[in-house]
Amino acid sequence: MNPETPGTRFDALLTPLIRLSRNWVSRAGVFIVTAVAVFFIFLLPTMFSGAVSHPYLGILSFVVLPGIFVFGLVLIPLGLYLDRRRGGPQVLEPSERSWSNPMLRRLVMFIGVTTVVNIIIFSQLTYRAVHFMDSTAFCGTTCHTVMQPEFASYQNSPHSRVDCVQCHIGPGAAWEVKAKISGIRQVFKVLFNTYSRPTPAPVHDLRPAQDTCEGCHWPQKFATDRVRVISKYADDEANSVTKSVLLMRIGGGHLRKGIHGTHLEKGVTIRYRPADSKRQTVPWVELTREGEAPTVYLANGAKAEDMNKLELRTMDCIDCHNRPTHTYDMPESGVDRALAEGRISDTLPFAKKTSLELLKNQYKAGQDQQVADSFIEFYRSKYPEMYASKKAVIESSAAGLRAIYNRNIFPDMNVTWGTYPNNIGHMDFPGCFRCHDDDHKAANGKTIGQDCSGCHELLATDEKDPKILADFGYSK
Ligand code: HEC
Ligand code: HEC
Ligand code: HEC
Ligand code: HEC
Ligand code: HEC
Repeated sequence: MNPETPGTRFDALLTPLIRLSRNWVSRAGVFIVTAVAVFFIFLLPTMFSGAVSHPYLGILSFVVLPGIFVFGLVLIPLGLYLDRRRGGPQVLEPSERSWSNPMLRRLVMFIGVTTVVNIIIFSQLTYRAVHFMDSTAFCGTTCHTVMQPEFASYQNSPHSRVDCVQCHIGPGAAWEVKAKISGIRQVFKVLFNTYSRPTPAPVHDLRPAQDTCEGCHWPQKFATDRVRVISKYADDEANSVTKSVLLMRIGGGHLRKGIHGTHLEKGVTIRYRPADSKRQTVPWVELTREGEAPTVYLANGAKAEDMNKLELRTMDCIDCHNRPTHTYDMPESGVDRALAEGRISDTLPFAKKTSLELLKNQYKAGQDQQVADSFIEFYRSKYPEMYASKKAVIESSAAGLRAIYNRNIFPDMNVTWGTYPNNIGHMDFPGCFRCHDDDHKAANGKTIGQDCSGCHELLATDEKDPKILADFGYSK
């Protein structure tokens, strides 16, 4: 076919395309762009349903594809330019460059229409790319090993329906850009296998809680006291249970009361300087209440002149709730909770003791099945009759035990019991007692108090049958 002779209508439509791809480079470009456009049409149904759950498919569709698309587009003019330098024909010879020439009009139309289509395709793909990279599937599972601990703990947390980005990026373009730039650095760390194991915490450039947590929770909202029942199991044959009942003084509102109100109410600022990278020892605390002079509390033995070298941090939600979603257990509390929730049956003799021993053993990566197998083996060898009659209960308890292990131990990332301290409370980690130890003194002799009832009323402590629970109407 001679492209210069106007033939059928179809030929006429094709001539601009032929003119634009008279050399190999441009032809490859046209081919790539067309192929991506066809692929794009096949992608449309998934894009409308918004459900790309597989990270690699998502990366292919929304990250690699736009790249190939632009590459193809660039090839077209590049080919024309190279061809021209080699003395090839121009798209339009000088004699053809007149508006009365139908070829010129067709070419302008063609370029106009394809540009609009290309912009639609490209903007849709990149828009989806940004969306996709903000999805929990992308954050949680792309770099599988690296994010495994955080993703596993997240899935078991009260926030498992909150997207990673709502806490880690928050609203606004500036943080989005910041996160993407830091993301690129992290991609290289994963590619070159130079990331730290475990991922270090605290996250020093975490977005301040005012812009993230406070989009859903806010400290000025008064929360009434909250009752917590904590069950503990002994390591005897009967797994004897005792209960503590705590009335947590959450507080808030505008009363500067309770746990939230005292630290975070409007007009209250608490700053502190931790002495270690995990913020677990706090020698310097400063309390400022509007209209009053700041009070500085120094830990026993700390010297004021050494303090300026340390990180200065203004207290927000994260300083207590540092594990609102990546919450790990300690073996003891993990087993107690599983027993209380029935994931490990408390009807099995020595269930607590056996579970605890097995959890504390060391297993090689990928050998977590041993935790469950050993649990089953214990009952098979020590309680053969019970093993025969309660096989299902023993097996589901073994699975419950293995789940605790898998939620907390990640050998590839060097994450094990206690790797990430939790700052709520004071039992397993210093937590509140980093400051509330009666050992931080102000110049006037005042200390940050350890009065138990300032934080919680202890309605029962390790009691077998707390009367208060009966009063609440709990049955055993
Ligand atoms: C409810 C808010 C919230 C959500 C949702 C959330 N995170 Fe986090 N994440 C945090 C906080 C707070 C920290 C900082 C802990 C610290 O500084 O000690 C953190 C820390 C991390 C860390 C650093 C290591 C560590 O454990 O401290 C990684 C990695 C991480 N998050 C990944 C994720 C991924 C992946 C998701 C989604 C699957 C996610 N996060 C969802 C709040 C959240
Ligand atoms: C997108 C909304 C959203 C964001 C952002 C968010 N949360 Fe939550 N958070 C929730 C919801 C919803 C619940 C209640 C879940 C439930 O009751 O099961 C919750 C529950 C909680 C609880 C109570 C957990 C419990 O044991 O009952 C705490 C504490 C908490 N969030 C702290 C935080 C902190 C700290 C941040 C910031 C790092 C944060 N949240 C960010 C939605 C959010
Ligand atoms: C001084 C430490 C501290 C700070 C700071 C703090 N909290 Fe809390 N928060 C607690 C404690 C302690 C509890 C009770 C935990 C429990 O019941 O075990 C709690 C409970 C909660 C609950 C559950 C309340 C309920 O009624 O169930 C939410 C939600 C929460 N905090 C969100 C936040 C947010 C958001 C911030 C920041 C604006 C924040 N907290 C700052 C210590 C703190
Ligand atoms: C960084 C230091 C720091 C940490 C950590 C800290 N607090 Fe405080 N807290 C203070 C300071 C400072 C005050 C004010 C003391 C004063 O009024 O003189 C205070 C006061 C309080 C009060 C009021 C006490 C009263 O008797 O009036 C409560 C309740 C409280 N904190 C609970 C908690 C809880 C619960 C935690 C742990 C989840 C915690 N705090 C962690 C510094 C801290
Ligand atoms: C600065 C605040 C604060 C002070 C002071 C404080 N506690 Fe607590 N305590 C907490 C918080 C917060 C928790 C809840 C931890 C959690 O959410 O699991 C807790 C939990 C507990 C628990 C149950 C935890 C468990 O695993 O058994 C006991 C028991 C307890 N405290 C006893 C005491 C006693 C006794 C005192 C007085 C010497 C005291 N606390 C002083 C904040 C405080």
